[in-house]
Amino acid sequence: MLDFRALRVPIVQAPMAGGPSTPELAAAVSNAGALGFLAAGYRTAEALDEQIHRTRLLTGQPFGVNLFVPQPSAATPEALAAYATELAADAAGAGVELGHTHPDDDAWTAKLEVLLALRPAVASFTFGSPDAETVGRLGDAGVLVLVTVTSLDEARVALANGAPALVVQGPLAGGHRGTFDPAAPPPSDDLDTLFGRIHHYTDAPLLVAGGLTTPAEVAHALARGAVAAQLGTAFLLAREAGTNPVQRAALLDPQFTETAVTRAFSGRPARGLVNDFLRRHDATAPLGYPEVNQLTTPLRAAATVAGDPHGTNVWAGAGFRSIRSGSAAEIVRHLAKEIV
Ligand SMILES: Cc1cc2nc3c(=O)[nH]c(=O)nc-3n(C[C@H](O)[C@H](O)[C@H](O)COP(=O)(O)O)c2cc1C
Repeated sequence: MLDFRALRVPIVQAPMAGGPSTPELAAAVSNAGALGFLAAGYRTAEALDEQIHRTRLLTGQPFGVNLFVPQPSAATPEALAAYATELAADAAGAGVELGHTHPDDDAWTAKLEVLLALRPAVASFTFGSPDAETVGRLGDAGVLVLVTVTSLDEARVALANGAPALVVQGPLAGGHRGTFDPAAPPPSDDLDTLFGRIHHYTDAPLLVAGGLTTPAEVAHALARGAVAAQLGTAFLLAREAGTNPVQRAALLDPQFTETAVTRAFSGRPARGLVNDFLRRHDATAPLGYPEVNQLTTPLRAAATVAGDPHGTNVWAGAGFRSIRSGSAAEIVRHLAKEIV
């Protein structure tokens, strides 16, 4: 079973579904002595299987795989219909139809079978905690389970289910919040406070994530007692990342100055660059993942093809202004500079 203290560099490249996470990125990060991650979200189980195999061709080092835990949708038909009406003008402008909504558990069972068969060193989970049986089966297969938590209550649930280690995700994190219940009020604790609370509660190894993009922030997180710092946004401009050209350009474009948490794109709170779509729909978008995500998929795809950073989600953490381009190995070396 992987022991984080055995990593040459106590840095984890966060899983980033939707494009940025690639076998090339995960392997390059792991080859640099840190821990790379594949993101299974939105992929088929077959594609995940292929990605794990491909990563193994590129590195002999450990890496992780991340899954979305299925959750009951909070959407009501009325709220979805009202949002679809609001988005109709966007769809007409882009020359596309809105996506169809349907139940989707992101192929949970099939992906778990892939993990049990291929046994990556680490499996992390977000949007909830796997149950005790699942945690036990993965543990028996030699896979270290990590559960992403955004509050002490969530940490309690994950630990009660047998999670051997946690990723403590703070409010400045890029992308989706791992919150188990997306309808719950947003966490009021900053990352340091949240980490302190959970660290006080448990001896389990804790990773820390959310808004860390500089060597000093990484060093600070480790000095507080985290076994590793997990960073996503810091790797978005890595050469090996699959970040699309519109997102890469937007991250460097001075017109984008801030990030915000919104459910406008996916129906679940997620942090991204403040752009026109977010400004227009943030206040009215309903809770409802995955349905809102499905509704907006064609709009976001059209904006990406058109090269329009105002029509699609550009997930990014609050520290995006400090990120660097370069190879993943260069980024790992840079981020590790102040670790003592
Ligand atoms: C583009 C992007 C996609 C993400 N996708 C996932 C994902 O698939 N699974 C997951 O657990 N976390 C995902 N996250 C959140 C990260 O795991 C991590 O919590 C976050 O990146 C930490 O904050 P930072 O971006 O400020 O470093 C994503 C983050 C970003 C920026």
